[in-house]
Amino acid sequence: MSDFIQHDVVIIGGGGAGLRAAISLAESGLSIALVSKVYPMRSHTVAAEGGAAAVIKPNDSLEDHIYDTISGADWLADQDAVEYFVNEAPKEMTRLEHWGCPWSREPQGKVAVRPFGGMKIERTWFAADKTGFHMLHSLFQNTLRYPQLKRYDEHFATKLLVDNGRCCGCVAVELKTGKVKTIAGKAVIMATGGAGKIFPFTTNGAIKTGDGMSLAYRAGVPLKDMEFVQYHPTGLPGTGILITEASRGEGGILVNNEGYRYLQDYDLGKPQPVDSPAHPVKRTMELGPRDRLSQAFYWEREKGRTIKLPAWNNIDVVMLDLRHLGEAKIDKKIPFVRELSKNYVGIDPVTDMIPVRPVIHYMMGGIDTDINAATTLPGLYAAGECACVSINGANRLGSNSLTELLVFGGKAGDNAAEFAKSAKDLNVAALTQQGNEEEARVKALMNDDGTESIADIRTAMQSSMEDGAGIYRTESSMKATAEVIAEQKERYKKVQVKDHSGAYNTQLQYAFELGCMLDVAEALVHSANARTESRGAHQRLEYKERDDDKFLAHSMAHFNADGGAPKIDYKDVVITKWPPGARTYGKDSGLKRK
Ligand code: FUM
Repeated sequence: MSDFIQHDVVIIGGGGAGLRAAISLAESGLSIALVSKVYPMRSHTVAAEGGAAAVIKPNDSLEDHIYDTISGADWLADQDAVEYFVNEAPKEMTRLEHWGCPWSREPQGKVAVRPFGGMKIERTWFAADKTGFHMLHSLFQNTLRYPQLKRYDEHFATKLLVDNGRCCGCVAVELKTGKVKTIAGKAVIMATGGAGKIFPFTTNGAIKTGDGMSLAYRAGVPLKDMEFVQYHPTGLPGTGILITEASRGEGGILVNNEGYRYLQDYDLGKPQPVDSPAHPVKRTMELGPRDRLSQAFYWEREKGRTIKLPAWNNIDVVMLDLRHLGEAKIDKKIPFVRELSKNYVGIDPVTDMIPVRPVIHYMMGGIDTDINAATTLPGLYAAGECACVSINGANRLGSNSLTELLVFGGKAGDNAAEFAKSAKDLNVAALTQQGNEEEARVKALMNDDGTESIADIRTAMQSSMEDGAGIYRTESSMKATAEVIAEQKERYKKVQVKDHSGAYNTQLQYAFELGCMLDVAEALVHSANARTESRGAHQRLEYKERDDDKFLAHSMAHFNADGGAPKIDYKDVVITKWPPGARTYGKDSGLKRK
């Protein structure tokens, strides 16, 4: 029998959004379970480098941040959510400073900001180029103040408990022992991050396997805007490790195999001398939005103007040149970029250019939530990358996501607290039974009848996602991918878990993760195929234009419990004050408002 444990609220995920939610909940005096498949400081928030956006300087305005976010999103963001986000952002960032986050400063001591992609003015706060590490550390240390917060580190949540139409906790496997636990609560917050690992080449850590998205999807909550997947323009070949946009924010430039700043050919502005005080770095075209920069790489490769690297299977790259910044600036502002380049590609950016290429980085889509971080399943809230609230629309601006996890993590915490305080008592018998059934399912996975290899299914899924759902998509490529994913789902029914041990059974964990990734991949490719337009990060070769008449709408993928393809339908985008317009980053890139 599975162990039965009860708290007021259960948080699944111990990264930035989960920890921020935990602090809100703890302040309201409730008892909290924080369930995380890794020790919280190992969550992927730790890997974020460049910074977090919020208006702080007198030359900036809330309205400009709102407009940059909405236009950067290609008008698919909900404008009420963006407005709330931008208004709350400076308060959250200041609060984090009070909680100990060491923001980098200007010489006079004020908080420093740097330019970032798609933001038309510099507003990105940073802690050198280890911003995620410092943010996560500040949040984590603050959670240690609250005795009512009980951590379940290294527990893998395999199922949401749903009783009487309401979410009541989860079932989780303790990885150290293999013990199955039923962890009940009157409200649940999902904060499990994204799913970059459904693709083969990603900046995402191995843990980003879409677990929370899948659990909510299986429980009947739609996944929203899943077709919008962000490629970051500058990843290292081989590993996919991120070379932060801060390197371009500080003045780095991109060149092709002719040493030419090719972005000037792609409506991103004119090349400007990056070493002259008369031409602020913020206006260089290397700070265009990520979707446009990644698409430009695709066309450079088509034109034969990229560089093939024999050491990495002839992978195509362009070059990031930081040499003109000088050693002192590189060491002060982007020391991690130097460390990563030296360690992973043997290049010192002080003297040589860094080979880079677009790499899967972030999912704009996720669990459908409203502006209160609430899902359609009463009692279930979601925040951070696993959620789609939606402020990122068809393309997220770099440095909005770290702030998003503070703003909506806090909101999820407040609203889950309120829900839990007024919710009816849990039906312990019904939840215990669900826990026992899930324990039986977990045990059944570890049988001797399985014939299909986890690694083979995963590889087939990842390469078909890259083939069919990459930077540019076509109907035939997506249909082929959808077929491959359906085949892998069939194979998964006979997945082999040969290791039957309880302690750190990584094979069992990989099997759980693979099942989740297949769900997310399926939702993504079907949503993408249904959207017959090009918008933001979703670019189709046969439908080149944005089609606001048909697709100014969020796609909603609904899980098909009978095992077939998901049902896709649409929900209106919230437009308040900023009617859809052209997205321009070149010569006509001024603000446009009603
Ligand atoms: O390039 C970066 O540092 C990434 C930032 C982000 O995704 O927000």
